[in-house]
Amino acid sequence: MTEPTLEQLHAIATTAAQHAYAPYSHFRVGAALLLTTGEIVTGTNVENGSYGLALCAEHSAVVRAVAEYGPQIRIAAVAITNLNQAASPPCGACRQVLAEFTEPDAPIMFPMEGGQQTVPFREVFPFSFRLDRE
Ligand code: THU
Repeated sequence: MTEPTLEQLHAIATTAAQHAYAPYSHFRVGAALLLTTGEIVTGTNVENGSYGLALCAEHSAVVRAVAEYGPQIRIAAVAITNLNQAASPPCGACRQVLAEFTEPDAPIMFPMEGGQQTVPFREVFPFSFRLDRE
């Protein structure tokens, strides 16, 4: 199987965004992770009436990936989208969650004011906290 393009990953993230549970913010986000093994795992945001418990799309995708494929997963690329025609780079908490599993040179694609932006993870989150830092 050939590796999906970032555009294909983006389309898969958009489908996931359509499943968002966002009755409070109405901001519908989708994320698609490409694992180094070739599998694709999606996530979407899931809000809660206790607002602070909202789970971001990127975070839910990482949780699904570990649940489905195990703790050794590595993330080779990430596409993030929203259905609100707004900029949505990953929030700080999601950057920290992604840092645990994402290759430093993995491309991260996300919507910005000027259109889709693709940046290596090391530039998205240059000073991440890692217990296994060498
Ligand atoms: N959200 C994400 O899914 N990812 C982010 O990186 C930032 C914010 C969600 C959380 C909440 O459901 C909605 O967007 C508005 O903040």
